[in-house]
Amino acid sequence: MDNFSYCTPTRYIFGRDTEKETGRLTAETGCRRVMIVSGGSSARKSGLLDRVTASLDEAGISYVELTGIKPNPTDDRVYEGIDLARREGVDGLLAVGGGSVIDTAKAIAGGVPYDGDFWDFWAGKAIMKEALPVGVVLTIPAAGSEGSGNSVITKLDGMHKISLRTDFALRPKFAVLNPELTFTLPPEQTAAGVADMMAHILERYFSPTEEVETTDRISEGLLMAIMEEAPKVMAAPDDYQARANIMWAGTMAHNGVCGCGRREDWTSHGLEHVLSAVYGVTHGAGLAVVFPAWMTFMASHRPEKVAQLGRRIFGVTAAGDKEAALKTVDSLRAFFKSIGLPLTLGELGIGNPDFAMLTRKFHEDKGTPFGPYFPLHPVDTEAVYRLML
Ligand code: NZQ
Ligand code: ZN
Repeated sequence: MDNFSYCTPTRYIFGRDTEKETGRLTAETGCRRVMIVSGGSSARKSGLLDRVTASLDEAGISYVELTGIKPNPTDDRVYEGIDLARREGVDGLLAVGGGSVIDTAKAIAGGVPYDGDFWDFWAGKAIMKEALPVGVVLTIPAAGSEGSGNSVITKLDGMHKISLRTDFALRPKFAVLNPELTFTLPPEQTAAGVADMMAHILERYFSPTEEVETTDRISEGLLMAIMEEAPKVMAAPDDYQARANIMWAGTMAHNGVCGCGRREDWTSHGLEHVLSAVYGVTHGAGLAVVFPAWMTFMASHRPEKVAQLGRRIFGVTAAGDKEAALKTVDSLRAFFKSIGLPLTLGELGIGNPDFAMLTRKFHEDKGTPFGPYFPLHPVDTEAVYRLML
């Protein structure tokens, strides 16, 4: 196990009606005027935005709104938000939505106090040290942004989707988690969220660091809980207990606990971010295609950990690691299929993939070679993309 420092300072307020506490929580962060960031229409339609603004009014907090943030959020909305926040003198951000909304709010929060171009942080030209406080009312368990220090934004110029990782600056001050808010999710978004949270655990599980049994077992337990609860939410979208378990798992999957004491991988996320930047696919659905392909490649190159996963959570009994790894992939794919996720690029709606372009963009964004668990050179990367056919 490696040395590590683990601090997850976000305050989680979990359960029914908790969005009514948003005003009080915002006031406790010291904010008096916030920018509410939200998505297309779901939070307006469900009445959530009205409940949130009523709670802010009650706490004497004024607000301006930035609405219409789309999935796979882009830098143009961040620039717009930074201008608006400065003009209106806001002192905090309140994200009401999912990862796309939260990541946009985080990027604005980091951009407002910075004199240069906010993209400097994503381009690796500057290190973010301060940001306005961010609060979250979560509507979809998936990206885990409510508990992470990350923000993923696509630069329209060149369509590069880049994840900025901060230790502290962008971790939300609080996250309101009410499972009832997720009852309205369309099934494909629920399933994509499940794939994404599982991927967040697997990115940490496939680590080159050895002897991290405690962190491995936490990860395996979470994966098993997710696979037990996911069919229940697919069958009954208003099953509160199942939604609650999925929601908490989504946060735990990405707030850092599954990475303690080890190097993390994040190759599959890099491969998927290229797909969602170029083809606009839903991130979690993309991961359902990418991760099994990457694991299939690993069966021939570094099968041990894939085999361990299968033996421990899917009951795989094959003796050899390669065979066990391939059986693990079959089981994972069968699970994804059972909740309606796509398994191939074709099923994702990508009919004629440009493998050379995908490979080039992956290495432009991540460097060459990339992959802490197993380093991918361009020839390997293209082979992994081809396994998604
Ligand atoms: O815009 P609205 O109308 O709200 O519709 C959204 C959107 O179409 C809908 N939705 C959300 N909550 C709903 C709902 N529909 C009905 N009822 C509700 N309660 O769901 C759709 C997807 O929303 P989005 O915010 O895009 O989902 P998600 O949370 O999956 O976020 C995906 C983004 O997060 C990034 C992804 O790359 C992607 O850009 N990620 C962020 C991470 C982070 N910051 O730590 C880590 C992740 O690995 C990920 O990369
Ligand atoms: Zn993800």
